[in-house]
Amino acid sequence: MSHVQIAIASPVNNVMKVLGIETSCDETGVAVYDRQNGLLAHDLFSQVEIHAEYGGVVPELASRDHIRKALPLIDSVIEQARIAPSELDAIAYTAGPGLIGALLVGAMLGRSYAWGLGIPAIAVHHMEGHLLAVMLEDRRPDYPFLALLVSGGHTLLVDVKSLGCYTILGESLDDAVGEAFDKTAKMLGLPYPGGPELARLAKQGNPQRFKFPRPMTDRPGLDFSFSGLKTFALNTLASVPGSAQDRADIARAFEDAVAETLFIKCRRAIKETRFKRLVVAGGVGANQRLRERLGDLDAEVYYPRPEFCTDNGAMIAYAGLMHLEAGQTAALNVEVKPRWSLDELHSGTRSGLGSSQ
Ligand code: KG4
Ligand code: ZN
Repeated sequence: MSHVQIAIASPVNNVMKVLGIETSCDETGVAVYDRQNGLLAHDLFSQVEIHAEYGGVVPELASRDHIRKALPLIDSVIEQARIAPSELDAIAYTAGPGLIGALLVGAMLGRSYAWGLGIPAIAVHHMEGHLLAVMLEDRRPDYPFLALLVSGGHTLLVDVKSLGCYTILGESLDDAVGEAFDKTAKMLGLPYPGGPELARLAKQGNPQRFKFPRPMTDRPGLDFSFSGLKTFALNTLASVPGSAQDRADIARAFEDAVAETLFIKCRRAIKETRFKRLVVAGGVGANQRLRERLGDLDAEVYYPRPEFCTDNGAMIAYAGLMHLEAGQTAALNVEVKPRWSLDELHSGTRSGLGSSQ
């Protein structure tokens, strides 16, 4: 299961419509992307209500719900796109990283459906999907650029030379930034998923009251560490009565610390790489305060719209189309990779999954 290989087929130039399926975590996302007409339809089924009572994602419940929702969602999105399944030219699915059971649902479904229709399938790297989501927008960057990917599972600064040619410049040594948001939110008594809830609470907070550290900004390098911020929040909460205002002030201090830390690291990376363009994506990329702070960078900053910062099928359909055009399609056997580093992807030597059909 963990061993993957790829074979490069001749480029596929006549691909027009790609169905994208995303099931790596707690969202079933499906979309149809058309090379000529852009996004034809996209829809999402969020499992928030299912996991909320547990305060986090329960992997087995996630897998089972993807099984329930994926096929009806595919049918509905194809209908919304006003096409027949036979008009699809390829199917892209998320093959990793993510929860193994959840990934398997989308991969099995995508691979089998493609086989049934007699069309190619493509195994997509979830973080590459996030990275390319910005290409769904009218305002999109030219290559090369720097990318800051901030999600629930990853915090990455990436040198993006071209499609599939990624070098990780920095990453979190412990909690991902979204994870730190979620854990801190939980500590503050906010429901899952905590990131957007914490951001909402922070709006009522006084930015002057608490000053949180900016982890790892006082030493060289582009790596991150966010687990200390969560502990700092816990200790701060323990030192006050815990009123609604106390919590809002802590939320604000936490959010400011995250935004400032990411700002400092991006500024440093821009200086080192001399890139003039920065792409910010992944769930935390939807955060308004972060967007405001990054507006002060000496670079053009590009974002997907907030709904394409968080998990969705559109980014998978688009990434799939790009790799299909490069001739990279998945083999008939279904493989997923719960752990899969972005810099293993390289056009030509791509350690993607599978070989050409
Ligand atoms: O990219 P994503 O949807 O899924 C993963 O690939 O992990 O990211 C989800 C993460 C969660 O930790 C969520 O709390 C966080 O993104 N998030 C936010 C916001 N929206 C989502 N964090 C802060 N502010 C937001 N507005
Ligand atoms: Zn994601």
